Amino acid sequence: MVAWKVERCNLRRQTEELLPELLRAAEEVLRSGVYILGPQLEAFEQEFARWLGRRFAYGVASGTEALALALLAVGVRPGDEVITTPFTAIPTIAAIAMVGARPVFVDIEPDTYTLNPELLPRAISARTRALVPVHLFGHCAEMEPILAIARSAGIPVIEDAAQAHGSLYHGRPAGTFGTIGCFSFYPTKNLGAYGDAGAVVTDEEELAHRLRLLRNYGQVSPYRSVLPGYNSRLDELQAAFLRVKLSYLERWNQRRQQLAQLYRRSLTIPEIHHPTVRPGHCPNWHLYVVRAERRDELWRYLEANGIQANVYYPLPAHLQPAYAHLGYREGDFPEAERAARQVLALPMYPELTEEEIEQVALTICRFYGYV
Ligand SMILES: Cc1ncc(COP(=O)(O)O)c(C=O)c1O
Repeated sequence: MVAWKVERCNLRRQTEELLPELLRAAEEVLRSGVYILGPQLEAFEQEFARWLGRRFAYGVASGTEALALALLAVGVRPGDEVITTPFTAIPTIAAIAMVGARPVFVDIEPDTYTLNPELLPRAISARTRALVPVHLFGHCAEMEPILAIARSAGIPVIEDAAQAHGSLYHGRPAGTFGTIGCFSFYPTKNLGAYGDAGAVVTDEEELAHRLRLLRNYGQVSPYRSVLPGYNSRLDELQAAFLRVKLSYLERWNQRRQQLAQLYRRSLTIPEIHHPTVRPGHCPNWHLYVVRAERRDELWRYLEANGIQANVYYPLPAHLQPAYAHLGYREGDFPEAERAARQVLALPMYPELTEEEIEQVALTICRFYGYV
């Protein structure tokens, strides 16, 4: 194992700080004898819905399953088309494939890496059944035009807010724009569990009912199934941990904001292009992703100097072997492909210190020959 001087994301620091609270929460669950679909999950769902300002929230097994259940809930069936971008985490696409639908890609906007609304109309066909914008790296997709196009075409919008807990668009949080919002609580997310977990949120009662059934074998009451559902429940231990962490989320997001500003101030060289924040947007800085000249060389140099960076995502979804059958080719989505060649995620997590950021900035300046 490499002994990193600066890690991309160090979860141990946060866990150490919260350990007494987490252990108390775990003990309460363990002593309760209720481990699935109990009071912790119910309380977390209420707290998460209230925090977000949506009527209903349901905990599910992961962000991927949140997306898959959301697609099923709005009526996506095998053979339907679902529009999204090729520059996203592969689970966005895996969820579409899980329900038997066909992903149809729309290229991204080069400054925010999110779905380009101008290219959207030509991707819509008679078989389009859902649209999945992704709030990538914590910057919201341009929801106003996306929602307007979806509304006029009569297509439900399922937001992939897996990376966007607390990101704002014109003052409203990600996950509250679409018919259903989907969240991941993968450990490295801004709100992360200690295992896999996710949530779906909506304001529509009928959809909420369907989502609740779908995650639990379609059961309306014990041993009575009215839908062919799944087992996709968020367990009591994870719910209890998430309740502890939810109370810190705003503070952690503010800290990320400070760190993002520090990166911007400490790295003022033309070879590094900082992330764009469009007017009306307030990202949660899930990741701090720059475009860098000679990206791969810089990445290797950072690693050789003990600084862990990463590329999200080196191969866009349309070029992944798993999705070759969709028939896309290199050159089909030039902005996604260019981003895949140029982006570099610098270390970012709330417990990162200012000295560590300065060390990252100094090492980058040294690579380009400034110091
Ligand atoms: C954009 C995006 N969508 C979906 C997911 C899937 O979430 P999970 O890992 O909880 O299944 C993730 C996280 O991995 C993600 O980053």
